[in-house]
Amino acid sequence: MKGIILAGGAGTRLYPASLPISKILLPVYDKPMVYYPVTTLMLAGIKDILIISNPNDLGNFQKVLGDGSNLGIKFSYAVQTETRGIADSFLIAEDFIGDSPVALILGDNIFHGFGFSSMLKTAGQKTHGATVFGYQVNDPQRFGVVEFDENNKAVSIEEKPVVPKSNYAVTGLYFYDNNVVNYAKSLKPSLRGELEITDLNNIYLMHKTLDVEILGRGFAWLDTGTFESLLQASNFVQSMEINTGMKIACIEEVAYRMGYIDAIQLKALSLKYKNNGYGEYIKKIVEQTETIYV
Ligand code: DAU
Repeated sequence: MKGIILAGGAGTRLYPASLPISKILLPVYDKPMVYYPVTTLMLAGIKDILIISNPNDLGNFQKVLGDGSNLGIKFSYAVQTETRGIADSFLIAEDFIGDSPVALILGDNIFHGFGFSSMLKTAGQKTHGATVFGYQVNDPQRFGVVEFDENNKAVSIEEKPVVPKSNYAVTGLYFYDNNVVNYAKSLKPSLRGELEITDLNNIYLMHKTLDVEILGRGFAWLDTGTFESLLQASNFVQSMEINTGMKIACIEEVAYRMGYIDAIQLKALSLKYKNNGYGEYIKKIVEQTETIYV
């Protein structure tokens, strides 16, 4: 399976904080925001990832992530010249996708919760149909919203409905089979001039090939769209990391635990951050490994 991170858009809601750099490279506590969607895709078993961003920001993503070889994975890059909609990703990425299934994650979506890795693995192994994730929110009007029937089966998805049919938002993480490119080609721009991801999901729904997995109570799906929510996301990550002694979205750790790199490569990566807590954390993982093998 291939993976796409959509990291474009102007990010004007976070101006002036995001004036000098893409919102998706701003820090969420101790790492750039893009580390979170990167690790989500890595945990799904995806090693071939395309980053899509606007012409001004793409170079900065390349600087931060490189070609991925140090993590045992591959990053490629593509430009989106205008914000033509989330589903535009599949037109931009047509050659990259080839004949594979593909997962798309929005660059500003942060997920954290027990059991997420195995949900990702299951979705990542599917080769037919699509999987999206529903999450209960207070303000469903801001999202794509799923309507369920009495058997909890999804029957419709509406984009930013004035009168939502449920409190379940569709999160910004989507797994699709290879039909997605042709379905995306059939979409017409919405009233706001965008190729809507919700229209794409409704095509799968119409074909009865859409699974909506619910991320339950206790699961965190964090918003980073406002000054307040960006700070809250940082506070959440800090508090989880301090309480558990484990990092969320440490790309080096995930690469190692997924078997994409070995302990020697991990040790080499720790040297880059040898003067701070992030490097200390990676070093600790290496030492734990060494103890196990001694
Ligand atoms: O976060 C989940 C929600 O994301 C879903 O529930 C909605 O169905 C979906 O439409 C989307 O809603 P948003 O209002 O959050 O979409 P927004 O236009 O803000 O775009 C989300 C991210 O994708 C944002 O970081 C900018 C980036 N983006 C967006 C568009 C439309 C691009 O890079 N290119 C684009 O063309």
